[in-house]
Amino acid sequence: MNFEFSELSKTASTNDYLKQIKEYGTEYVVVAKRQTGGKGRLGRRFVSEEGGLYMSVSYTPEKGVLPQQTIHYTALAALAVREVLMRFANTSELNPNFTFDIKWPNDIYLNGKKVCGILTESVHLGNEFYMIFGIGINLTNNISKEVEYASSIFELTGISLDRTALAKAIAEKLLTLLSANSIDFKPYMAEYKQSCITIGKKVKTDTLCGVAVDIDENAQLLIKTESGRTETVFFGEALITGI
Ligand code: BTN
Repeated sequence: MNFEFSELSKTASTNDYLKQIKEYGTEYVVVAKRQTGGKGRLGRRFVSEEGGLYMSVSYTPEKGVLPQQTIHYTALAALAVREVLMRFANTSELNPNFTFDIKWPNDIYLNGKKVCGILTESVHLGNEFYMIFGIGINLTNNISKEVEYASSIFELTGISLDRTALAKAIAEKLLTLLSANSIDFKPYMAEYKQSCITIGKKVKTDTLCGVAVDIDENAQLLIKTESGRTETVFFGEALITGI
């Protein structure tokens, strides 16, 4: 898979930087050592200090693919990042056996702590559009003790992963996965469900509480509420509140 690769010592947000340099017909991968205005999902800030991996990958779906058909792309991005992290973290001489999990839709957890977040954006240009996958991974950067739910891969494993090699491998995996079969999530459902820690847990979204019972063929979360109804959630946060 061909892409333009650039590394910056700092930028406000790699997602925004990529939007400025992107030319139609070419895919770009931008990596920064730190970000001064890192963006998280749902309008949050993403603290991006040196030691982490902050990267953005562009992907232009084939002509004819509609924005509403890309709802599962964000789940595919989580699968790609998880697969590469498993590969990199488990090749150390220590012969470890680290398992990374996905928290729906696309956070990556290790030992119950968030180590990676993904922000997917769509950019519309007339009738065309492309996507940007912004990926932030806590490698060796310090995480404030106040952020109890997050940690870094180094803190949890003692392993310091190579930022550039990891970024290239993630870009390669993500772009391959998207271009191979991106319109259909079904082939990836089993793997996604198996690695998703949200299923079977009590969850809370902005509008409902219940138990996360399944993921459907669009990567949407199915929540069974206390009233016994099953609701479909396609966006936002599903906070895990219990087992
Ligand atoms: C989240 O956890 O809410 C998503 C965080 C996404 C952060 C990445 S870091 C690289 C890219 N640039 C940004 O400004 N955000 C994403």
